[in-house]
Amino acid sequence: MSSTPNTPHTKLKAWVEVIKAQCKPAKIHWCDGSQAEADKLFGEMVASGMAIKLNDAKRPNSYLFRSDPRDVARVESRTFICSERKEDAGPSNNWKHPREMLQILDGLFDGCMAGRTMYVIPFAMGPIGSPLTQYGVEITDSPYVVVNMRIMARIGTPVLEALGKDGFFVPALHSVGRPIAPGAQDVKWPCNPENTYIAHFPESRSIKSFGSGYGGNALLGKKCLALRIASVLARDDGWLAEHMLILGVESPEGKKTYVTAAFPSACGKTNFAMLIPPAQLNGWKVTTIGDDIAWLKPDKDGKRLLAINPEAGFFGVAPGTSAKTNYNALASCSKDTIFTNVALTDDGDVWWEGLTKEAPAHLIDWKGNDWKPGQTDKDGKPVLAAHPNSRFTAPARNCPCIDKDWENPAGVPISAIVYGGRRTSEIPLVFQSKSWNHGVYLGATLSSEQTAAAEGKVGALRRDPFAMLPFCGYHMGDYFGHHIKMGKSVKQPPAIFHVNWFRRGPQGEFLWPGFGDNARVLKWIVERVQGSASAKETPIGYVPEKTDLDWSGLEFSDAQWQAVTAINKDTLRKQTEEQSEFFATFGDRLPKEVEAERQHIIKALS
Ligand code: OXD
Ligand code: MN
Repeated sequence: MSSTPNTPHTKLKAWVEVIKAQCKPAKIHWCDGSQAEADKLFGEMVASGMAIKLNDAKRPNSYLFRSDPRDVARVESRTFICSERKEDAGPSNNWKHPREMLQILDGLFDGCMAGRTMYVIPFAMGPIGSPLTQYGVEITDSPYVVVNMRIMARIGTPVLEALGKDGFFVPALHSVGRPIAPGAQDVKWPCNPENTYIAHFPESRSIKSFGSGYGGNALLGKKCLALRIASVLARDDGWLAEHMLILGVESPEGKKTYVTAAFPSACGKTNFAMLIPPAQLNGWKVTTIGDDIAWLKPDKDGKRLLAINPEAGFFGVAPGTSAKTNYNALASCSKDTIFTNVALTDDGDVWWEGLTKEAPAHLIDWKGNDWKPGQTDKDGKPVLAAHPNSRFTAPARNCPCIDKDWENPAGVPISAIVYGGRRTSEIPLVFQSKSWNHGVYLGATLSSEQTAAAEGKVGALRRDPFAMLPFCGYHMGDYFGHHIKMGKSVKQPPAIFHVNWFRRGPQGEFLWPGFGDNARVLKWIVERVQGSASAKETPIGYVPEKTDLDWSGLEFSDAQWQAVTAINKDTLRKQTEEQSEFFATFGDRLPKEVEAERQHIIKALS
């Protein structure tokens, strides 16, 4: 860690000087990304009361943080795409003109780091040196951000070396927005919820985030750079920046097939990325490349799409994660992990709802209060020990099923893309699109039912095209058009599938076992891609017969199969017709190919 920059990059040094003059920090530190630097920062945060060191015998090299209860999640209502023209941000984004936004932000950033240290974090999204990697520099006044960025991205000296004297980087400015007056005491989790702005400037490829210290609002490499700004870079340069996991499926003969998948939140994306197939599936294995973001680019021969995971860690939702639901995620956070807003056990370890069947007899909850099982608030409602959006930040290298090529700078070839949502009825377990354009239509109409964990009416259908609704940095209609174009950019585009693990019976019971048994569907997908599995052509696409899936080790009756796969043509046709209202919101930017797919399906279902 150094207060002087060890870089010949004149533009970077000049930008840091401008920000220093504006934010007026007490000190400045250029992060080298070393373990010694992280240890020093953790030590300082423990001393200030911001962090708690967990029991090293149970959870080596791991820490717990508790945020301000007003700063616990991404804030979509305060997230802006500040393109020059409103129509370029499209109907799905908040918009302000860059001049107007900069006027607000210049006022807020003026002197905002008084009394604090300003950290300069050079970071790489993707393996350093990969042709798919993008570089950024985050300036922040939060040491919590530094230690999280060190897990989620590659940071420090190697990045400065890769940038050289004039390499392109995305400038990403962040402040918690709480200057410390001379002599005043800092709070444990500084933030400024009344003045939070997460602003993206697609034309100048820059990011400014003020007022929140949490997750995607503050770790600017993730949602801000790797999705919102990257989607703009990808549109302009002919690649795809997607809210997708990447996994590898290995057959018993050792043949590897790579698949990406997009699911809206609360659909088990991290679980799917790390699933363990049932032992009876005869040696089929799943390996993980990434659990949240995929960048896909045509190879140099224009044959296939190659993908990397731009991240280096998992920023996973803790509640619901257990040895049963996701053994590999739990193992990933067994050491070297930062926990935020989970509960603390009496022996210095962590706990959250769903980790074990029985809660410990006593805990300190995420707000720092004593907690016991069955505790209720004054209205009789259960008090949660961990916040529903509490998180673990764990290094990907800790994951037992991490793919050996997860950091391959060339990326891995993608054979299939899967879209999925949480749908109680109508949508069958799995089907394959008839073409790339039909697949784009499936991505564009992706929707999921709201769960209790998200705001909004439980059960209401939320349209979340490509699971990118909060993450697309430009007009969503143009984004659909970019997908149509990318299908033509390679000779062998990935095959596209749609899955639904969440169909329910009359008593509300799930009809499909899910979790590891999803590997049966994955196996069929891989065999379809390889040309060895059959399917039946229907109006909605290619669907498997029951005998096309491998049932080794699972009793599943014909009636059960019928219940997870049956479709009602009339209801589906009606739902497809009703999409006209949603499509109308994109005006003349909706690609004609996507509307043509919709008309085609209506006709086929009639
Ligand atoms: C995430 C999200 O945190 O999608 O990954 O919100
Ligand atoms: Mn995500």
